[in-house]
Amino acid sequence: MLKTIEATANFINEQIKGQAEVGIILGSGLGGLVNEIEIEKTIHYEDIPNFPITTVDGHHGQLIYGILGGKKVLAMQGRFHYYEGYSMQEVTFPVRVLKKLGVNNLLVSNATGGLNPVYKIGDLMIITDHINMFPEHPLHGKNLSELGPRFPDMSQAYSKELRNKARMIALKNNIDVNEGVYVGVQGPTFETPAEYKMFRILGGDVVGMSTVPEVIVARHMNMKVFGISIITDSGVPGEIVEISHEEVQEVAMKSEPKMTLIMKNLIAEI
Ligand code: HPA
Repeated sequence: MLKTIEATANFINEQIKGQAEVGIILGSGLGGLVNEIEIEKTIHYEDIPNFPITTVDGHHGQLIYGILGGKKVLAMQGRFHYYEGYSMQEVTFPVRVLKKLGVNNLLVSNATGGLNPVYKIGDLMIITDHINMFPEHPLHGKNLSELGPRFPDMSQAYSKELRNKARMIALKNNIDVNEGVYVGVQGPTFETPAEYKMFRILGGDVVGMSTVPEVIVARHMNMKVFGISIITDSGVPGEIVEISHEEVQEVAMKSEPKMTLIMKNLIAEI
């Protein structure tokens, strides 16, 4: 595993000939942030040794190196999901490569179903914490002590400092943001009404099919993490309607400029 991470990082290093301070993982329908990057290099996932390939519509599958908010960034336009059939090691592999490349700050975005009755479709939520409901843990197995400790602390998985900065940026720019707990599930089914209700009772504000494995692996390696969700559909009793991946993407794309503005300004302040 360590050798594979190193080989992939070496390949990317040769391609970009520089160093990034910030890593970004963009969720379904949220790739628009890439248009704000002064792009220096685009690498398709299929050209990166050992990288899995995205199989989901709305996930482009390319790594972009360039400048955003005055800083060098490496953005993943498209991520790997557990429901695609990848192992947890594959899902989180790019995060390990980013760390090997010297990236110490990870910004992640995702599309979610809203559980908190106050949230509206199209709203943003800064992730304060998560509940891991995936059936497998990304750190299961022998610990790689070169990467991090056997029992990583998760008391502040999502950096309070970055959350505070993001909240101030939103306020200054008249963007309404919620703050709350992300429940990570394996999917690929959206939840039944009874499941949405259960996740609300468990303490969740939104539910989605990604992010948690990446954040766990990032925290294992002591990266600073910021996460933001877009609420693309409602899991609130009485408001639940039939949904599709296309509708999720459509709502995500509409709210994306607000998210991009927060991300860009946050990067400037990191
Ligand atoms: N549930 C799980 N994942 C999601 C949802 C949802 O309602 N919406 C977007 N991703």
